[in-house]
Amino acid sequence: MKIGRNDKCWCGSGKKYKACHMSFDNRIKDFQNRGFVVPHHGIIKTAEQIEGIREAGRKNTMVLDYITPYIVEGANTAELDRMIEAYTREIGCIPACLGYQGYPKSVCISVNDIVCHGIPSEDYILKDGDIVNIDCTTICNGYYGDASRMFCIGNVSEEKRKLVEVTKECVEKALAATKPWGTLGDMAYACNKHATENGYTIVREIGGHGCGVEFHEDPWVGHIGQPGEGMLLVPGMTFTIEPMVNMGKPDVYQDADDGWTIYTEDGLPSAQWEYLVLITEDGTEILSH
Ligand code: MF3
Ligand code: CO
Ligand code: CO
Repeated sequence: MKIGRNDKCWCGSGKKYKACHMSFDNRIKDFQNRGFVVPHHGIIKTAEQIEGIREAGRKNTMVLDYITPYIVEGANTAELDRMIEAYTREIGCIPACLGYQGYPKSVCISVNDIVCHGIPSEDYILKDGDIVNIDCTTICNGYYGDASRMFCIGNVSEEKRKLVEVTKECVEKALAATKPWGTLGDMAYACNKHATENGYTIVREIGGHGCGVEFHEDPWVGHIGQPGEGMLLVPGMTFTIEPMVNMGKPDVYQDADDGWTIYTEDGLPSAQWEYLVLITEDGTEILSH
């Protein structure tokens, strides 16, 4: 279906197409003709959706801020999960993980050699020397915010502390390389370059994702790539940057019993930070971190 110059724009602004997204669409078409993978309208958010996702991101950041002081030696991870669920509901939101494709808890807590999707458990108590990722996703008025942070418990080895810090730097470098009318490959290249330069590897099979109207939307966001490759980034896209950085080999496997937990194959530690970002007219905006 072709949209006429004088028809209403697809973005819901109420303006005529020619006065709204027509030149924007032509610019995208130009890239497409030059061989770029380009985003479809379904993943370019309207102003109203951006407002909703921004609020969901803000609430998700509040949940991470709330739980931060409790991520200490001796904390029971199932209790942390209950606290996160209760606080999320208290601020008028819903934990997105709970029941998502059968996931049993409200948050993912991934310790040491767990790469991601660790399930909180009564049996796991945070101990001195652990590095732990807390990954929260919050639904607010139907919109989604998703982010994760690392924490160091007590006396963490210099090696593990460095992994945690470099992984955060990977996200910061990735973010700096993320811009409107650039590509996901620009971001991935910067991210992987920093990991590699520090002797680390990035997990290939699992990545970030479009996020906001749904939990996991297009595009899939890899963190290994080449500049100028991968999907074109345009204003209105919202997605996560969430590299999983391994101290050793990049290989991972899934726990056959619980069907969720992802471990490093070599048993060495892995770290991850996750930001939810919006592509704006002139840069990026962090919606949750
Ligand atoms: N929050 C994770 C992500 O960053 C997804 C967790 S899905 C769950 O995409 F079901 F394990 F919670
Ligand atoms: Co997440
Ligand atoms: Co995510």
